[in-house]
Amino acid sequence: MIVFSARLISLLIVLFMISFTSVCLAQTAPAELWEARCGICHSINPPPKLAPPLRGIVMNYRNVYSDKVAFSKAIAEWVRNPTKEGTKMPHALQTFALMPPLPFETNELEQIGIWMWEKFENLQPLTNVK
Ligand code: HEC
Repeated sequence: MIVFSARLISLLIVLFMISFTSVCLAQTAPAELWEARCGICHSINPPPKLAPPLRGIVMNYRNVYSDKVAFSKAIAEWVRNPTKEGTKMPHALQTFALMPPLPFETNELEQIGIWMWEKFENLQPLTNVK
């Protein structure tokens, strides 16, 4: 009985560790979320795939939103409901089709937005980037 309890306790510890690990993974996930949710159409740097590269998006959005939180909210709003009127990159709409709405969790999209901002935080604007 004592042995059984010890096994039970170690099993519970392992379960606890697994759930703790997934919490950690959830915190490091934005780069992978980006890859899975957005990377099929968006490259990170030029040349573009089916959409403007991430670098160009961040450069354009940083001209409009000067802080990380407002930026990430705008990204989340855009992804769930892209419209021609709401674009911050009118020139992109001359080259690419309007992005389709993607109904991912707002919270998840805001995490991706924060990650986008931080990825290019120290980058100076480039000319000639779409
Ligand atoms: C099916 C392809 C596709 C996927 C997947 C996709 N996008 Fe896009 N996205 C586009 C295209 C095409 C444009 C350029 C035209 C436009 O702005 O609507 C674009 C433009 C954008 C813009 C610029 C919007 C503007 O102001 O015009 C942002 C921001 C953006 N995408 C973010 C994302 C994020 C974040 C994800 C992942 C959650 C994502 N996209 C997934 C196709 C895609």
